[in-house]
Amino acid sequence: MQIELGRAARKHWSLQPDGTFLNHGSRGACPLVVQQAQTTLRSEMENHPDLFFERIEPVHPQCTLRPVAETLANFIGLHGEQLALVESATAGVQTVLNAMPLNPGDQILFTNHQYNAVRLAIEDRCRRTGAVPVVVHLPVPTNADEILQRILDAAGPRVKLAVLDHIASATALVFPVVQLVRELQRRGIRVCIDGAHALGQLPLNLGVLGADWYVANAHKWLYAPKGSAMLHASAATAAMTSPVLVSHFIDKGFPRSFDYTGTRDYTAWLSLPAALGFFHGIGAQRLWAHNAQLVKSGSAALTAAGGVALCPDDQCAAMRSFRLPQTCTLPDDGLTLRNALWNEERIAIRAVVHDGALVLRFSAQAYVADEDLTRLGEALQKYGWPARR
Ligand SMILES: Cc1ncc(COP(=O)(O)O)c(C=O)c1O
Repeated sequence: MQIELGRAARKHWSLQPDGTFLNHGSRGACPLVVQQAQTTLRSEMENHPDLFFERIEPVHPQCTLRPVAETLANFIGLHGEQLALVESATAGVQTVLNAMPLNPGDQILFTNHQYNAVRLAIEDRCRRTGAVPVVVHLPVPTNADEILQRILDAAGPRVKLAVLDHIASATALVFPVVQLVRELQRRGIRVCIDGAHALGQLPLNLGVLGADWYVANAHKWLYAPKGSAMLHASAATAAMTSPVLVSHFIDKGFPRSFDYTGTRDYTAWLSLPAALGFFHGIGAQRLWAHNAQLVKSGSAALTAAGGVALCPDDQCAAMRSFRLPQTCTLPDDGLTLRNALWNEERIAIRAVVHDGALVLRFSAQAYVADEDLTRLGEALQKYGWPARR
């Protein structure tokens, strides 16, 4: 039976019934069937802990984890040998930063759209190694050509590593990653793509993309439980890529050294086949078409309420960000607006201050309907921007 889309799909999630949820991008939301799969796995873990944990080990003849990594890898154009499971996108980026040999004066390039934790991890690595962070400022609204040009203009001979978003967090811009990877690598720069939002949100073929590393979260757009993320290392970088946490199988190299990192809860990773099953149950093309239609409706509602889109129509996927018209005065203005929309309207949304402006991002998703986005537009118009009352 095909999974419905729109409001009817809400029965597949446990989202609070009185809420309008337009912020899937921040933390994802795990469907009930995937929650149940994880609960079953947790029971198996506690029913026979020894057996359960022994079978996580990458050397066990009936290993349960490696086939899961293989399944995920195949979904994005890779082999299992090219993909490690990690706990979060931040952990994946941290692993890459540790792997990259850096000398004082070497540069790490990133942009002012980078996720805060990733920026902090880069700055921390720079402090420890004497490397220098190079931040490319990308003013918004912008487009793919401008992003490419500004990044390449900053890619001088001292840049050793570029950490770039596939889909940026606050601004929801889809970066031209194919051209970026090709052009940066041509200049001898290693490229790590932060695809925290990309897995499940748009078609991915990492075998074709050819980035040195690619990090992604599965708990956002692939419906997996929290704590499931991945790290792909290319043939050129796999040998230098080790887990942050050294444990029993460290001598197995990439990716097996990542598989067993102690007696912890592996059920989020093991639930990935259930998450992929749900994703395929909806159908990727059907889901992406539904989301594209929602982004259109949401864009109309936000534009009517005075918002300005941060990118052209063809440079966003299932999320879109808008600059709101009022002058932004306090760093907490985003939080104030977000809280007002939840407290007064039960609308969950992401709003942040980016580059001195108040930026609101909405997410489409299988359980979102046009009427949800109409409600958002009406709420913003009704209150004349709640943060400003
Ligand atoms: C672009 C981007 N990178 C990294 C992260 C960090 O993800 P995690 O919290 O799983 O480490 C996020 C989280 O939203 C993100 O949006």
